Amino acid sequence: HSQSVLYGPRVVATRKLLPESQARLEAQGFDLVQWKEDASMPRDLLLKEVKGADALLCVLSDKIDKEVFTTAGPQLKLVTTMSVGYDHIDLATARETETKIGYTPDVLTDATADLTVMLTLAAARKMKQSVRAAETGEWREWRPDWLCGSQFTNRTLGVVGLGRIGEAVASRLKAFGIGEVLYWGRNKKPVVEAKLNAKLVSMDTLLADSDYIVVCCAMTPDTKELFDYEAFSKMKKSAIFVNTARGGIVKQDDLVRALDEKLIAGVGLDVTTPEPLPIDHALFKFPNCVILPHLGSATVEAREEMGQMCIENIVAALDDKAIPFGLRL
Ligand code: DGY
Repeated sequence: HSQSVLYGPRVVATRKLLPESQARLEAQGFDLVQWKEDASMPRDLLLKEVKGADALLCVLSDKIDKEVFTTAGPQLKLVTTMSVGYDHIDLATARETETKIGYTPDVLTDATADLTVMLTLAAARKMKQSVRAAETGEWREWRPDWLCGSQFTNRTLGVVGLGRIGEAVASRLKAFGIGEVLYWGRNKKPVVEAKLNAKLVSMDTLLADSDYIVVCCAMTPDTKELFDYEAFSKMKKSAIFVNTARGGIVKQDDLVRALDEKLIAGVGLDVTTPEPLPIDHALFKFPNCVILPHLGSATVEAREEMGQMCIENIVAALDDKAIPFGLRL
């Protein structure tokens, strides 16, 4: 329509990108509507602005449900999320409305795996207690048994979801001495298995035999609240549990109870329910539970590339071409 000729296609972006990708986005000649605050685009504003949009660039805290698709209208060609996870997008409606869905796999694998290892090390070596001790005067003389954690040498790692990120975490932790790698997931991964000498096991076996359990799977109906009281009960008392995937994979009240009852030794979380986690939440009071504010992909390198992939998806979709980084719906 005439507006497109004058102003270019309407692209709504719920966030500002990092400098290089932001500059490229602005140079595209789109009729760009962008929420530039350092916070989520308010839902009512998103619904107002998305009307008539040709493409929507969103992030994981934007809920892209049926209402967003229908409010946007039938001209909407693409929703592209600056994340590898897409549990915040209603794929059934995307399919129905034939809207392409873009995401950003691969480029954040290293960053997320690094942070997962960092949390695993932090939980294993009591980093939260240790930093507090150093800063609060609890640090006195060197003591043989003070703040002793556990190491990785010949220990068993359990990976929940041996996808790109799970594999990268396992190969990093093998360099720290991990002996056996167990994994659980929908599919057997023969190539990765051979590389890591990993073994597909039942969830019960993974829970019972792992010294370290890292959650690296997508959140789906199969993995939602997979880690409940029963699951924590089946873990070793010395187990370290780390989740950098999605908060919803853990039944959080059950995790609080498990920590209260000392069913496991330590926890590292990069994801919670909700996000942000209220500062008075029970999980914050455990000295053996390290919590980060969803920073898995937070490197300049990863975030710039994630932005670039979103732009490439938008350019392709507006040109009615197959998008380079898309889901098969
Ligand atoms: C993702 O990409 O899904 C992460 O949660 C944020 O980078």
